[in-house]
Amino acid sequence: MNSFTYQYPVRQHFGKGCAENAIKEEMKLVGRNVLLAYGGGSLKRTGLYDKMVDWLHECGKNVTDFGGIMPNPTYAKAQEGARIVREQGIDFILAVGGGSVIDCCKIVSAQAKLNEDIWEMQYAKHQYPTEFVPMGAVVTASGPGAEQNNGAVITHTEKKLKQPLVGAYHNFAVLDSNLTKTLPMGQVISGAFDTLSHCMETYMGKPQTDNLSDEINEAVMRNVIKNLRTLIADPDNDFARGELMWDSALAENGLLKLGKQTDFQCHMLEHAVGAYTDCNHGRALAIIHPTLYRHLLNEGKEKLARMAEQVWNVKGETVEQTATLGIDALEAFIKEIGLPTRWSELGITDEGVLRAAADTCLLMPGCCKQFTRDELFEVLKECM
Ligand code: NZQ
Ligand code: ZN
Repeated sequence: MNSFTYQYPVRQHFGKGCAENAIKEEMKLVGRNVLLAYGGGSLKRTGLYDKMVDWLHECGKNVTDFGGIMPNPTYAKAQEGARIVREQGIDFILAVGGGSVIDCCKIVSAQAKLNEDIWEMQYAKHQYPTEFVPMGAVVTASGPGAEQNNGAVITHTEKKLKQPLVGAYHNFAVLDSNLTKTLPMGQVISGAFDTLSHCMETYMGKPQTDNLSDEINEAVMRNVIKNLRTLIADPDNDFARGELMWDSALAENGLLKLGKQTDFQCHMLEHAVGAYTDCNHGRALAIIHPTLYRHLLNEGKEKLARMAEQVWNVKGETVEQTATLGIDALEAFIKEIGLPTRWSELGITDEGVLRAAADTCLLMPGCCKQFTRDELFEVLKECM
């Protein structure tokens, strides 16, 4: 493994039914004026909103609402949140939702303390925020593991870009699988595939030689595959639901990335397509992954073959054959769990959009191969 420094700042509360106690414990440690941030409507429909407000009032907090955070959160929405934080003198931000709500709040937290535009600060000046309004995350949709890190994926609608920004870490994460039970199965599946994608993208990063981070990663990948199959067959299986939630956390809390230079080129492609189409993150990743990996068959065959054997339990007569069988197994799994394999299944039929995405996509050097924009366009086109 490469050298590394590791420190982890997010306190974790994991367990079925842990939310109420965990939130009340955490609220003892924060200021009086709390911003309750949530998405487009599920929180109120499921009744969790009323419970959250009651728990916060029981803890003596003043509650200010910040609802309507959309999937693929926009930069404008994060700016709206930052204005509310400043105007209402907010001491603490409580994000209750999936990756979109949790990411949006990371930027709200940072922007509220800044006098300059955080997008320009990061992309034009390469400077990063150092002061934040403290916050915590209550996860209602697992998969992205957004509660584990300080990267926020934000869509800048005017610039037609969906890109990562550095924001705040959440002080704590509440991982109560009961809160994900109202999530539609389609979103459970695309979230779990997102977790698998994070594992694969990390695994394919440098160095390619065998190492402990990758061995732990293989166990997480096997666990995602097994428990997703279990949960699809039996949506009431709380154990599998909890396992997937912790898989999601492990894939993004840095552990699998220790000593590795990660790549995430597939993610950068999804983000670029997402900026033009607002597509679902996990579903688009499912479309891109097998084709992208077929473009790595030359440079990444050893690692792809190891993944084939350790994760998919397939083996051919040569390294090349084994690597190919592994990609075929990944594609078969994607079909088995009902995720799309072609852009048309997401209503994306315009080749011009894919060209624009390849032209604006962030190019990543962390994998076994440096892609050109033309080859990334080929990858996207082959998924039509
Ligand atoms: O908005 P509401 O009405 O709440 O509905 C949401 C949304 O429509 C719904 N939902 C969430 N919890 C629910 C629920 N519905 C019923 N019951 C519940 N308990 O689910 C829908 C999707 O929510 P969203 O937060 O958008 O999904 P997800 O958690 O998959 O997050 C996706 C976002 O995370 C970013 C993605 O790019 C995307 O913007 N990512 C963030 C990462 C990070 N920060 O580390 C890593 C990922 O790679 C990813 O890029
Ligand atoms: Zn992802």
